Amino acid sequence: MLIDSFLAAYMRRAVRRRMSMRWVEKPFCPRPEDARERLLYVHVPFCESLCPYCTFHRVAFEPGLAARYFTTLRREIKIYKDLGFRFNGVYVGGGTPTVLPWQLASLIGFIRDLWPIERVSVEAHPRHLTAGTVAVLKDAGVERLSVGVQTFDDGLLEKLSRHHGPGAGRQARQRLQGVRGEFETVNVDMIYNFPGQTTRQLLEDVRILRELDMDQVTFYPLMQAGRDFRRVFGKPSARREKKLHAEIVGALGDSYKPVTGWCFARRRGTPDEYIVAHDEYAGLGSGAFGYLNGALYANSFDVARYMEAVTRAELPIVAVRKFPEAARLRYDFLMRLFGGCLDLSDLESKYGARCGRELWKELLFLRLVGVISRRGSRYCLTPGGRYGLVILMREFFSGANRLRAFLSGSPSAPAPAPAAAAAGPAHAAGGAAVPRESARPSVEEPGAPASFAIRLASCPPSA
Ligand SMILES: C[S@@+](CC[C@H](N)C(=O)[O-])C[C@H]1O[C@@H](n2cnc3c(N)ncnc32)[C@H](O)[C@@H]1O
Ligand code: SF4
Repeated sequence: MLIDSFLAAYMRRAVRRRMSMRWVEKPFCPRPEDARERLLYVHVPFCESLCPYCTFHRVAFEPGLAARYFTTLRREIKIYKDLGFRFNGVYVGGGTPTVLPWQLASLIGFIRDLWPIERVSVEAHPRHLTAGTVAVLKDAGVERLSVGVQTFDDGLLEKLSRHHGPGAGRQARQRLQGVRGEFETVNVDMIYNFPGQTTRQLLEDVRILRELDMDQVTFYPLMQAGRDFRRVFGKPSARREKKLHAEIVGALGDSYKPVTGWCFARRRGTPDEYIVAHDEYAGLGSGAFGYLNGALYANSFDVARYMEAVTRAELPIVAVRKFPEAARLRYDFLMRLFGGCLDLSDLESKYGARCGRELWKELLFLRLVGVISRRGSRYCLTPGGRYGLVILMREFFSGANRLRAFLSGSPSAPAPAPAAAAAGPAHAAGGAAVPRESARPSVEEPGAPASFAIRLASCPPSA
């Protein structure tokens, strides 16, 4: 436990120290520095009901607003096209992108007409996975479907406000049966370490997933979210998290191999979160993060403002952080580590021979605490280091949640400090508010404006 606490503190400190964002003061316009193909992340924030534990940027679904939003997304995509970006992969996250399946399919078609897209991944709610919607998504060429189940246990689903009628767990099972084999990869998102969740309930979830023979399963440890989170769920116990993680790994057995700290796949090589697999990505949609040319940027979390800006042919970027090369190197290092193995020579070909010197402290520390082992230039996760990786990822993503909470604050609210604690963009979706104390930004620079009007970045296609 001591090493675990140490690892968590180390990562928390690194996230707080190294990553922060500023509201943009002059237009920030990302441009492609080379002809490389990148990932296009598109955020669709709408949900039919808002789950109290959720860390992502989500707003109540209104069909008219959502339809206009999809039209706006096309405009924003066109701006990136005019700027000269090239994309070969698309990840549509949320929120719940499948709230309007036809609009989603048509958006994917629009993107495919602009670039030769190889892979499309879409997040979905099990409730939406009717035969009709599955056919629409398949026709649109979706290869990877990621379904948010969280648990099959009806009692727990009720506590999570995800119990949409009796038998919600059984309905999720049936829907998963219906999509099995329909896409190249079907991933199921689960959460563990809910207060009151018993080991028996968790093992039953794993048993059902194995029986359903899903391609990929992702077990997220519960991470704090939302102002009311602690009141509803209390503080997630780190000790229990470790115990339950060991139960999951044991119960999945040899049939599923780890792909990242918390994703397991039946076949080797199945891609996990696309963002982890891509060095850079553009973030489109309200509340999306992008990471381009070593700059992390965020779009407006206010859907109306986002739409107004794009309608004026402006990029709706409201905050940005440009990383020096050493920080870019560390970000790449971390993303590769999240994937289980990293080859220092890959990083050297990108950043030069000094990588080993720059990263020696991190490499030594992670080896000393037994998280990674070395073979030549390759550093790979040890079997005993798997939980260590969960801790690193948890702290990293929690940092992202704090940043989202800060950025999603109402622009007419009392001013926060200009620089907010941030985390990297491993999942480029914006998030919901998190408790005040954890939302507190790590202030690096003085001089907060009295009221922070969001200043939209202007980046006309002709610029
Ligand atoms: C943006 S949701 C997309 C899925 C879809 N909206 C749904 O709920 O079915 C992505 C996933 O993030 C995970 N997630 C959300 N909030 C979380 C939290 N507080 N802790 C851990 N995982 C969380 C859930 O597993 C969720 O399925
Ligand atoms: S878990 Fe999914 S459905 Fe629930 S609020 Fe978050 S994005 Fe929406």
